[in-house]
Amino acid sequence: MNIAIGCDQGGYAMKTELMEYLKSKKIPFVDVGSYSEGSVDYPVYAKAVCEKITSGECELGILVCGTGIGMSMAANKIKGIRAAAVSDNYTAQATRSHNDANVLCLGGRTIGIELAKMLVDTFISTPFSGEERHARRISMFS
Ligand code: RB5
Repeated sequence: MNIAIGCDQGGYAMKTELMEYLKSKKIPFVDVGSYSEGSVDYPVYAKAVCEKITSGECELGILVCGTGIGMSMAANKIKGIRAAAVSDNYTAQATRSHNDANVLCLGGRTIGIELAKMLVDTFISTPFSGEERHARRISMFS
């Protein structure tokens, strides 16, 4: 499992901590930036993470902005991407199991780092259920 991770200024601090967390768990990741707390345009980093997934280099992505919302909106414009802005553990599990989400969007200004770590754990460890009704509904997205 290889994970693409990106952020803007609103998510830089959380992304930095999450990368340390992934390292501690020996989970490989690719950091596409941004690389400081300077102001940037979050769609650039949403696209960079999504390209890692659509190219097949990474299976899942993590995007962190202030709220997770802008990143999810930008990511969901990209074909093949199913991004979910998540702030509770049930949703982290259900969006993998039911929606086969491939990008987890987090709010660096709205949730704490311990919850963010839990959401990452749940997201990357939960498989898509593969149930026909869920696959059918996902196929209706485009
Ligand atoms: C940047 O200030 C902020 O707008 C961004 O991080 C994000 O919250 C957008 O959805």
